[in-house]
Amino acid sequence: MDSQVATAFDAISHRYDEAMSAAVNPVVALVRERVYRSIERHCAAGSRLLEIGCGTGDDAVALAGRGYRIVASDVSAGMVERTRAKVAASRCADAVQIVGKGVGALAAEWPSLGLAVDGVFSNLAPLNCELSLEPLRRLLEQALPVGGCLVAVVLPRICPLEIAIFIARGQPGAALRRFRRDPVADVDGARFPMRYYGAGDFDRALGPAFLRVETRSLGLVLPPLGFGAALGRVPRVTRALALVEDGLSRLPALRRMGDHVLLAYQRRW
Ligand SMILES: C[S@@+](CC[C@H](N)C(=O)[O-])C[C@H]1O[C@@H](n2cnc3c(N)ncnc32)[C@H](O)[C@@H]1O
Repeated sequence: MDSQVATAFDAISHRYDEAMSAAVNPVVALVRERVYRSIERHCAAGSRLLEIGCGTGDDAVALAGRGYRIVASDVSAGMVERTRAKVAASRCADAVQIVGKGVGALAAEWPSLGLAVDGVFSNLAPLNCELSLEPLRRLLEQALPVGGCLVAVVLPRICPLEIAIFIARGQPGAALRRFRRDPVADVDGARFPMRYYGAGDFDRALGPAFLRVETRSLGLVLPPLGFGAALGRVPRVTRALALVEDGLSRLPALRRMGDHVLLAYQRRW
């Protein structure tokens, strides 16, 4: 399973930034900024954070620039290579360590890796590639100290705007794809099974030792990331949508839905 995911992301690693870097996609820029603010709220400045699914390393470099020390990990060798190059070219190479492993391997090998972290984060859905959150729980139980936080950005089942867009385009099957029992990810033609996860799934999987301390929608009013590049032409509209989104994204009725949701948990014991 990990190898299917790794192969899919290896194949797109050289062009991932063309769609998903903050520089080219204003929605990605807005989402990344909000994730950094959440990490800054929950993880003390200067602390050491494990990143699960670092992709090409944008968040590792950005957060190292904000004073964190990062252990960036990813299951895809291609992504790890991009991260390595990006970190080497940055001003904070000393603050980032890179580990080519997925969640399952990290959980299985944690004691032998000799790593110590204060917090964990995962941005833009690496955890949706895991068919169960059990390996994540095992990893957190070993890696996260009491009081430490997890900040995870995942794809939930309900994304009202995505449903509306696909219905408007006459694609009802695509509109309902998040509700399938066995959803399949399609990364540029490479398909592998995946799961959509919400706050309830995380609450159940992590158990009472982890208290959910933040829940917010990312992508309620702002379009799904794949549609984001087009908004570069209308920056005022983008700013207005972001304002509306920030006003609505924590309302109890709305905060668990959207293109992504941000969930933060603190370890209680
Ligand atoms: C959509 S990308 C997000 C990358 C990055 N976090 C970002 O914000 O751009 C998903 C990444 O998660 C990685 N990934 C998928 N499953 C993973 C797993 N089980 N453990 C670690 N990384 C994983 C993929 O290789 C890919 O780099």
